Amino acid sequence: MRIDIFTLFPQWFNWFFQQRHLTNAIQSGRLTVRLFDYRDYSPLKHGQVDDNPYGGGAGMLLRVDVVCAALSEVYGRNCEEVREKLPVFLLSPRGRRLGGELLDEMAGCGDFALLCGRYEGFDQRISDHLAREEISIGDYVLSGGELAAMVVVDALARRIPGALGDEGSALLESFSAGLDGRREYPQYTKPAEFHGWPVPDVLSSGNHAEIEKWRQEHLG
Ligand code: ADE
Repeated sequence: MRIDIFTLFPQWFNWFFQQRHLTNAIQSGRLTVRLFDYRDYSPLKHGQVDDNPYGGGAGMLLRVDVVCAALSEVYGRNCEEVREKLPVFLLSPRGRRLGGELLDEMAGCGDFALLCGRYEGFDQRISDHLAREEISIGDYVLSGGELAAMVVVDALARRIPGALGDEGSALLESFSAGLDGRREYPQYTKPAEFHGWPVPDVLSSGNHAEIEKWRQEHLG
C-alpha cells in the first residue's frame, strides 16, 4: 500500500514517521508513504499556495491551480484524470466520518492520496474536480488536515502484519472481527492490588474458560 500525502507542512510528519510501528510497517515493504509539499509545485510567484475567498470572509484558501499542479506533476497526467486512476481523499471537517467501514475501504484501495487542507480551507473546486471523496475524523475543526492524515495512516499501518510488536495485538482489539466489532474487554497488569484497587480474581485464576467467559461478559 502506498499513501501519498500532500501538505503545506511536511515537517509535521517528522516525529510521526519515526514511530516504531510505522518504521516496522515501512521496513516490511508493505507500506510506503510519500510526502509532497504543495509549495514545491506552485506555478505562482514565491511559491504562493493560498488566496482570499471570493465574496470576502476571513482567512485564506488553498488554491485549486496549486493542487492541480502538484497532482499533475507527481502523477504525470492531467490533474482531473488523477482521481480516475488513484483514489484521492481530501481531509476536511465536512467529509464522510472516518470509521471502521471507511478504513476497510481505504485498506482495499491499494494506493491512494491524501490532500491536507490548511488555513480556512480550500477552494471547493479541489473537492469537486480533483478529489474522490472528503474525509473527516470528527466534528471539530483542526488547523489543517495533517493530524487527520496521521490518524488515517496510523489506523491503517497497525493493521499491517508485523507493524505491531505483538502479532496478536490487532486481532482482539476494539472493533476487530475477533471481537465481533465490539469494544475490547478491560485489561489489567501488575501490581495485583494498588491503593486497594484489586484486579478481578478470575483473571489470575488460570481457568481459561472462566477468563474467556468474563471477557465476553465485559465486551463494550
Ligand atoms: N481538517 C480540519 N479539520 C478536520 C477534520 N475534523 N477532519 C479531517 N480534516 C480536517
